[in-house]
Amino acid sequence: MLNEEKRFSDALKSIARNQQLKNTMQQSSSLFTKGIQRFIAGDTIEQAVERAQRFQNENYQFSIEYIGENTTSTAECIAAKNEFHQLIETLGKLSMQGTVSFDLSHLGLLISEELAFKHLSELATFAASYTIQLMISMEESQKTDAILTVYKKAVQNHANIGITLQAQLHRSQTDLTELLALPGKIRLVKGAYQEESTFSLPRSEQLNTRYIAMVEQCLAANHTVSIATHDEQILTALCQKNHLVNPLIHVEMLDGIRADLLKKLKDDGINVQVYILYGQEWYLYLMHRIAEYPPNLYTFLSDVIEDSSH
Ligand code: FDA
Repeated sequence: MLNEEKRFSDALKSIARNQQLKNTMQQSSSLFTKGIQRFIAGDTIEQAVERAQRFQNENYQFSIEYIGENTTSTAECIAAKNEFHQLIETLGKLSMQGTVSFDLSHLGLLISEELAFKHLSELATFAASYTIQLMISMEESQKTDAILTVYKKAVQNHANIGITLQAQLHRSQTDLTELLALPGKIRLVKGAYQEESTFSLPRSEQLNTRYIAMVEQCLAANHTVSIATHDEQILTALCQKNHLVNPLIHVEMLDGIRADLLKKLKDDGINVQVYILYGQEWYLYLMHRIAEYPPNLYTFLSDVIEDSSH
């Protein structure tokens, strides 16, 4: 990333948490419909499932997230848990065996680890009855310990739960060693949050090298791993090492990002998965996608302008 792009990206990541701007943008969502739709399936379960069906028909695996995080009232946590329950039921009744993803802070982690654990266990039991996988996302580093604690406790009784690890955090290689002793799937990402340089690597060759080493650590332990990146350099390196054809691996990308690359991998016979998001809390998600790839801002603005001029 160029210096100016890096400054812009850091600034966007900072304002992503600005509540006033978030409220204004979300209240004006009808203005941005086309720009949002490039990255988000819609507001409802039906829209997300319809999108997943389209991908499934083209031989992609899929995961679906109902967007939300940092829920601070018990009633909202229960409402979120019920939404995921309904999502699982909808997929199950259609015999669609995908993955359902979420932030634990959407399900109650900010209220208590017990509440998050309770909701997670309930969803895992229900999902298992339809052979559906759950995948926990990884949030800011202040929450890593709590997320891993809840996960480690739950996965012992529910092998259908997986966990995301952020290669950017220095602690992650040690965390991975511990997690590989447990049954759940690992999803490996670089990390979307702006973290202190004392405990995190920026985007760099060093981070890519660490990412690849973590993939190889999973394979050496005979453990399934989702390669959740759009980074062609990493994917090419893994391909050259013959890792991408390993049945323990699948490559997972966010819906709307590098769709060309994901299709090419699929056509080459590699297991691929697309990560579909839906819901009204799209603001933070969209800001992150623009911050990590600033040209997305031009695409977003062009979509908005084209849409409003029709
Ligand atoms: P990087 O950011 O270095 O980008 C490499 C290249 O990919 C870019 O040069 C560009 O070509 C392309 N690219 C990347 N982002 C793009 C974009 N937004 N638009 C267009 N092109 C883009 N993070 C987290 O902290 N916790 C989590 O739980 C998850 N979960 C998750 C699931 C899945 C399935 C994916 C794919 C990603 C996540 N992430 C995440 C996000 C992740 O941490 C990371 O921020 C993004 O994947 C971008 O990083 P890359 O690995 O793609 O590399």
